[in-house]
Amino acid sequence: MSFYHSTRDYHLRDLKTLGWELTVCNSLQPQDSPCRAVLKRGNSYGNLLYDFLDRLLPMESVGKVLEIGGGYGYLMRDFLNRNSRLQACMLDISPALLNRQRENLKPFPVRYRQEDFLETDTASLGEFDLAILNENLGDFPVLANIENKSPGCSPDAPAREVKRIFDAYGLEEPSSGPFNFNLGAAQAVEKLCSSGIRCLFLSEHSCEAAAPGICARLRVRSTGMPERISLYGHAEYTVNFSHLQKIAARFGYASMRGPLADFIEPDFTPGLIFIITSGATVRDEHEIIRQFVEDLYQYEYLVLQAG
Ligand SMILES: C[S@@+](CC[C@H](N)C(=O)[O-])C[C@H]1O[C@@H](n2cnc3c(N)ncnc32)[C@H](O)[C@@H]1O
Repeated sequence: MSFYHSTRDYHLRDLKTLGWELTVCNSLQPQDSPCRAVLKRGNSYGNLLYDFLDRLLPMESVGKVLEIGGGYGYLMRDFLNRNSRLQACMLDISPALLNRQRENLKPFPVRYRQEDFLETDTASLGEFDLAILNENLGDFPVLANIENKSPGCSPDAPAREVKRIFDAYGLEEPSSGPFNFNLGAAQAVEKLCSSGIRCLFLSEHSCEAAAPGICARLRVRSTGMPERISLYGHAEYTVNFSHLQKIAARFGYASMRGPLADFIEPDFTPGLIFIITSGATVRDEHEIIRQFVEDLYQYEYLVLQAG
């Protein structure tokens, strides 16, 4: 039996802190973070991302930028410090996190919208040049344990919506077994692309990750199908980026995709290689670093640009 998984109530009512789910952005925030020390360029997430996007996108012509699910607002604070022409809007379902964003972005003239992005009106997105969704697509709804995506005239609206999306974008159903589908992530990309926003950046825990060379020794999982991850007070699912890429391609978007390590580059010194390859953890800090480097390969990004 399939079931509809949603984190809406958790984000609206229960979420008070992101302390339980350390995001890559938050791991890099403290200037003395041990995670910064193992990078070729030890810097904040927002600065590393800004430089990366500046190489791929016409950042000089970006004016209005929308961040969906901006957490504590650190990424946007870096962007606004880097480029005073940017006009930012933060859209988030969580009242608690919007308050944190208001505090951290106080010096800047930022607009705030408390909304569930799945309910956001597509027409209200057309004004933006760039939208950023960092580590939140896994929070969006999932239809889990689907046995057959073609349930005829199912009375179940999510099942009908899954069938519509598979048919509209030519997505392939897994050859065997029940499967999970990132329904909310697919609807979000469909909405963003149909709104006509020229540039998009998405990143999330991938179910198709790859770790090359020495990083094959890390615990990077690649199951090909969204997997459930239990977290404090809620669960999320890893994301199938191939599906999102196909949806964006149908709207004429060119895409670039890879692991976060493309722009948060580890410096493979003998010390880091020891941490990656040694089974035993000698110090707590080594475990923090190993998990961080795992995340740099477990998380993928997608940069989309309208054709
Ligand atoms: C794991 S946090 C990531 C925060 C930040 N982007 C980072 O990387 O540190 C997920 C964020 O997405 C927001 N979010 C989750 N579901 C959402 C939804 N349906 N609509 C809008 N925001 C949502 C959460 O409130 C939170 O700000």
